[in-house]
Amino acid sequence: MCGIVGYLGNKDAMPILLEGLHRLEYRGYDSSGIATLDGKKLSILKAPGRISNLEELIAKKNLQGHVGISHTRWATHGEVTYQNAHPHLDASGRLALVHNGVIENYAKLRDQLEKEGHTFHSQTDSEVLAHLIGRAFDLLEEKSEQTLITALQDALRRVDGTYGIALVHTEVPELVIGARRGSPLVLGIGKEEHFLASDVSALVMHTRDVVYLNDYEIVALRPDSFTISNLQGDGRPYNITTLDGLAHDMDKGAYPHYMIKEIFEQAHTVHEAMRGRLSLEEATAKLGGLEMSNAQLRDIERIVLSGCGSAMHAAMVGEYLLESLAQIPTECEFASEFRYRNLPMTKDTLVFVLSQSGETADTLAALRESQRKGHRTLGICNNVASTIARESNGGVYMHAGAEIGVAATKSFTSQVTILTLIALLLGRIRHLSSSEGTKIIHQLETLPEKIEEVLRLHEEIEAIARRYASARVMLFMGRQFNYPIALEGALKLKEVSYIAASGYPSAELKHGVIALVNEETPSIFIAPHDAVFSKNISSIQEVKARRGPVIALGTEGHCAELESICDHVITIPSTPDYLTPILATIPLQFFAYYTALALGCDVDKPRNLAKSVTVE
Ligand code: F6R
Repeated sequence: MCGIVGYLGNKDAMPILLEGLHRLEYRGYDSSGIATLDGKKLSILKAPGRISNLEELIAKKNLQGHVGISHTRWATHGEVTYQNAHPHLDASGRLALVHNGVIENYAKLRDQLEKEGHTFHSQTDSEVLAHLIGRAFDLLEEKSEQTLITALQDALRRVDGTYGIALVHTEVPELVIGARRGSPLVLGIGKEEHFLASDVSALVMHTRDVVYLNDYEIVALRPDSFTISNLQGDGRPYNITTLDGLAHDMDKGAYPHYMIKEIFEQAHTVHEAMRGRLSLEEATAKLGGLEMSNAQLRDIERIVLSGCGSAMHAAMVGEYLLESLAQIPTECEFASEFRYRNLPMTKDTLVFVLSQSGETADTLAALRESQRKGHRTLGICNNVASTIARESNGGVYMHAGAEIGVAATKSFTSQVTILTLIALLLGRIRHLSSSEGTKIIHQLETLPEKIEEVLRLHEEIEAIARRYASARVMLFMGRQFNYPIALEGALKLKEVSYIAASGYPSAELKHGVIALVNEETPSIFIAPHDAVFSKNISSIQEVKARRGPVIALGTEGHCAELESICDHVITIPSTPDYLTPILATIPLQFFAYYTALALGCDVDKPRNLAKSVTVE
């Protein structure tokens, strides 16, 4: 959600800033902009729309300088216009700033500044921040690196809300400053050069050595050194993290889109989520990252799972898994609601927050609220060293590799896999016998192979998707373990194809949703051969009786009845009920992808969306 890149070193800043923006475009693509400093000369180019629009401007007017900042925007305050694109200037026109986050008291600050004579050119909260810092600097007599940092500290103390920022000032041209509160920022360390970015994907081509900033920290980058301090100006010791493997993940390879590449990776990523974590000897899962003894795990009375979007859907599958395999009362709560509810949580409630990016603001807030109340809070994250991963009391990494497609795909199946491992572990500590544990492990081990089989269905699913791509409304139905999969299938379709899709528990159909059914409204039923198969058949009959087209997902060897009543049946391999969500999700991901392609939608950059939602 908004991408920030900063550079200062011995090379031309512009190509580095631009390449970084391309890498971060998945965080927002409403508009983009670059500012470079060449000595004291500040040049700015910005453009609404995709980065290609900015590139057209750059082709006409090359930006000089070895210092600069850049931004790709996901609009929060103000429409997508040239004026609202970043970088923003202060009143003097000498300070340029890029910002990710939301300044909650910006209206009041803007009012005060306007009374002092400041004129604003945009509707953004970010421009207020630029003016506030510039004003504090102008009030100081001495113009030095230190006074610019002091001005920034003063300004940030007046600000409520969240920010990840990078700024440059013509008075101190050999300096880039960054600051963070709530929005991620990472420093990249090179040889006689330093980088700043809102995530490491913009840095991995240049350096493997990074320092993750914490909230309320300021970083000052010079060509040959950097300092990290807090808002009071105190320095802090830092750990340099060495990155591994990301550059390769960022490559689309032969695939036209990240989304389809990531869908096809799932046999591997589900395997990675389990690798080294299954013990046949003890018939259980081994999850050392939880950092809890078996005695502590046995004392858990209740579990709360929290996340947003697809992560919330994975959490909902987790609720079924934990209650059925481990028999622990479990509740799911949208992370965005968590801290505004007074969820009854007994002393021995364990909380898991799920987040691919590990940077989702709502999920981070849920984590902090849960910890504030004294609960052990564990993370299920993909991004190693992300804020949620760092702040949680332990957890399990997905090891799925970078997920760049805005629509979550492989991270979802990895989350569900990990929740299955957690349910197995907790079940084995309580009531599951060793032979039951062994059976579950054997079933888990067959998953990658079964996923390969499902991946081979892509052409069949593409044909079905093309056939129904003109539908305006689609319904997704499932029960029990697969009710959350109905929600996830509908979310995927909405996100990338903009078709109004809704997911429901199948039996809810007759309580109202059935009013939507007609010849033009396709329904997708997730109807594996599980405990509720015959119930799903009855619901399908109700749709067919009203001439609604039905696409069903059924289990190999048990599809005859579905084939006799449905328009299309997609067959997935047989697996126990609790593992069907992983296999059933993949055809729905294909369905969403191919529908979007048929409609000519920009699959990797869907309208209004951005990966990693770092604002509340
Ligand atoms: C859906 C999607 C979003 C994310 C949600 C949480 O395809 O991508 O709904 O799942 O924003 O993101 P993370 O997992 O990064 O916290």
